Amino acid sequence: MAALDKDRVVAVIGSGAMGAGIAQVAAVAGYTVKLYDTRPEAVAKAISDIAAALNKLVTKERISAVDCAAAIARLHAAVTLADVAGAALVVEAIVENLDVKRKLFAELETLVADDCILATNTSSISVTAIAAQLRVPARLAGMHFFNPVPLMALVEVISGLATDAAVAQTVYDTAAAWGKNPVHAKSTPGFIVNRVARPFYAEGWRLLNEQAADAATVDAVMRDCGGFRMGPFELMDLIGHDVNFSVTQSVFSAYFNDPRFTPSVLQQEMVNAGFLGRKSGRGFYSYGDAAVAGAPLHSALQPQAEAPQPKPEYVSYTVEPGAIGGASHAAGGVVADALAARLRASGIAVSHRKSPETRGHAAGADEALAFHCNGAAVFLTDGRSATQRARDNNHPDTVLFDLALDFGSAKRIALSCSDQCAPAAYQSVVGLFQAAGFVVTRLDDVPGMAVMRTVAMLANEAADAVNQGVCSASAADIAMQKGVNYPRGPLAWADAVGIAQIVTVLSNLAAGYGEDRYRVSPLLRRKLANGGRFHD
Ligand code: NAI
Repeated sequence: MAALDKDRVVAVIGSGAMGAGIAQVAAVAGYTVKLYDTRPEAVAKAISDIAAALNKLVTKERISAVDCAAAIARLHAAVTLADVAGAALVVEAIVENLDVKRKLFAELETLVADDCILATNTSSISVTAIAAQLRVPARLAGMHFFNPVPLMALVEVISGLATDAAVAQTVYDTAAAWGKNPVHAKSTPGFIVNRVARPFYAEGWRLLNEQAADAATVDAVMRDCGGFRMGPFELMDLIGHDVNFSVTQSVFSAYFNDPRFTPSVLQQEMVNAGFLGRKSGRGFYSYGDAAVAGAPLHSALQPQAEAPQPKPEYVSYTVEPGAIGGASHAAGGVVADALAARLRASGIAVSHRKSPETRGHAAGADEALAFHCNGAAVFLTDGRSATQRARDNNHPDTVLFDLALDFGSAKRIALSCSDQCAPAAYQSVVGLFQAAGFVVTRLDDVPGMAVMRTVAMLANEAADAVNQGVCSASAADIAMQKGVNYPRGPLAWADAVGIAQIVTVLSNLAAGYGEDRYRVSPLLRRKLANGGRFHD
């Protein structure tokens, strides 16, 4: 299979934000583009906006003046829908309404040749349903771009039940010829990105609801510790709480109220209040005029950080049996080494010893990383609260740290401690991490902390999408990196953290909350049982 020839015509129907972007990338890639909209003024605006955007790229020396002029010359307004009759590919980017889209495609089928491929940019409607009433439903596929189209590399190529595999492949190859990074996916609610990303927002809402920290603090932990470009609250402020809430509601209802996708009453209140984020001047943060007039909501603008504590002289780390059953935690050694290197570099004496309990422990037994510092036992979170873990281990002075994308370079670390923990023991752990160069942020003692529970749930959702044949593991990871800029694909992250650790975290969350929401994907369990990984 190959991309459409460059001498073929691409038609784009709908000249709003998405249609204009799609027309721009197709024209820049060398295709003749016909742009149609029921509002002719929208077409004129789109063509002049594209010309302005391309001319700007010339001044930035990103494209040549000759290529810019040639791309603009390839853009044509279609005055009537019949003007797109000769197209080899029609990409629809009109209003998000099933009936309106069906009506458009039915009319298009009376105009275009039988081998013309029809594509929809829908983000939430079943591609199967859009194709259902066509004379040739096999010719329709989803071609889901991300906003802003010229900048976002991802295109989800969606196959409905009737879509011909050759059609999907041509759409895929054509997207690649347009300089995009396409992935194949099956028509299921949310496709890949809008489904797999739900826990990024949902776990943020859960943390806020359970008062783990304020929004600015959760955002800072997700950014500085988790390596995400933005935290969930600043990102939802950017997207708009109305838009984000409506996508969550639509995915929740499309999966017949699966508790995994339950919307947040807190977000509903944000929408009720009209605190929609940047576009209304006020969300979790204040923007524009509102920044002057109003105090921030829910959160202090400064993320919480612990006051400086003295540097401990000595720390030991060990691989210790945890209190729960399961396989060994491969991640422990990597984490320990990265942290130990940072501590040593700060002049703290670090010894690596086997704990008495571990000596002679059978290979494959459950193990969890522990540091010992002035009487405090310090663990990477495993989805239990510190308080629960202190009780399970009969060790009151228990402190947990959150997952980091890279423990060697993270600026911030999040800690939580058991209710039983002596303040002096906790403070010595704060001093320990501060000495290693971390800003230390305290989260209240919620199970799974912030980054760990979010990453575990992202990996769980991606694993389920793979398990259900929606996409491949590499497609899931590419989609999340290219569609929403995640620093690492969720399944590659599960590999790095250790499938055993992810399953343990989810199992502990499921047991602790007693909610089906945290049920473990069968594919994660299978990987755990067969010792496999998602990527070699
Ligand atoms: P928009 O509102 O900016 O543009 C839609 C355009 O379609 C308007 O200019 C409107 O006049 C035109 N239109 C409406 N009905 C029409 C019809 N029957 N025939 C021809 N033109 C018609 O909308 P936007 O944001 O560009 O979205 C378009 C599609 O892309 C929707 O299906 C949306 O769900 C999807 N999408 C949107 C994304 C976004 O971030 N805005 C991201 C990915 C997909």
